[in-house]
Amino acid sequence: MRDVFLRACRGEEVEYTPIWIMRQAGRYLPEYQQVRSRVDFLTLCKTPELAAEVTLQPVRRLGVDAAILFSDILIPVEPMGMKLRFYERKGPVLSRPIRRGRDLRRLRLIEPEKDVPFVLETIRILRRRLKRAVPLIGFSGAPFTLATYMIEGGTSKNFTHTKRMLFSEPEVFHQLMEIITNNTILYLRAQVRAGAQALQLFDSWAGALSPEDYRSFSRPYVQKVIEALRETGVPIIYFANGCAGLLDEIKALPADVFGVDWRVDLGRAITRLGRHRVVQGNLDPAALFADMKVLREKVASILRKGRRARGHIFNLGHGILPETSPDVARALVEMVHELSRR
Ligand code: CP3
Repeated sequence: MRDVFLRACRGEEVEYTPIWIMRQAGRYLPEYQQVRSRVDFLTLCKTPELAAEVTLQPVRRLGVDAAILFSDILIPVEPMGMKLRFYERKGPVLSRPIRRGRDLRRLRLIEPEKDVPFVLETIRILRRRLKRAVPLIGFSGAPFTLATYMIEGGTSKNFTHTKRMLFSEPEVFHQLMEIITNNTILYLRAQVRAGAQALQLFDSWAGALSPEDYRSFSRPYVQKVIEALRETGVPIIYFANGCAGLLDEIKALPADVFGVDWRVDLGRAITRLGRHRVVQGNLDPAALFADMKVLREKVASILRKGRRARGHIFNLGHGILPETSPDVARALVEMVHELSRR
């Protein structure tokens, strides 16, 4: 297996900087569109043969150094007790959102083998098919990000309901976070048992919190998840989107790898997190619309900055955009390998 990604996660010497791309399986790939034209998104997530196929598409086409399980952060929320739907353009909708203490009674602890067998089966299929290729990353949403979806009922701009609960009924919010955290631990442990070789926690909405509120309402739960997963021995990546104002808070977390979004200068992020850290990131996804010369300069600049850290895994600073050309994504992977070769 090409294990350069796993070695980079552990801060070991590598012959080139490994790269994978957030949302690397998705709508920008015609072969994904082809599968999606036959089934809706949730069916795709819940059909192991198809989810495994779609996971492998970017591995074959782009030559990335890791595969990431094809699923969604909201998949485990359904067996926790909420009805989940996806709408074209509108995105995910969770009906009957959690707004007050008594709503918590609807939530329960999941049994992954029983409640999300399709996720675990997808992982098992993938490990067999990826044998001599690249490692497989499992993932979940970070507790705060999952809480926003469960409280708002979908994607949000201002997180009005979440913040109302946070500020006016903090004990209810903390109880919700306990439930989500315990479920996340069960879910991720099951992914590792099925064969996931690294884990990423997506904290997509961390940047919606002030540093003080992040410290009280989000970080303790991320910490609990990471500590509980430590015993599995797999590297844990924590990606906090919008992390610029939170770096001093985030650096206290025991993650193996710190994902950095594209709004921050990677060099400054490394200074703030500590040079002994392994970082992941952080090209602006829209840089893939630039011409090759500009793209190359941006990639070289990020690689140069990344060399100041103990380890660097190249990635975009958030998910790849649906309008991206697959050829440019492939060129990016080649560029990173070529420019970083020691
Ligand atoms: O990265 C990968 O290739 C693995 C698959 C993956 C998906 N979603 C597939 C997906 C992963 C890791 C996710 C994580 C996810 N899902 C996050 C965290 C990452 C981030 O973007 O911050 C979040 C917030 C979600 C929730 C979600 N799922 C939203 C808001 C949407 C709608 C917006 C959109 O991009 O369509 C989704 C749908 C979704 N998840 C798609 C894919 C490929 C598009 C579905 C389609 O085919 O129509």
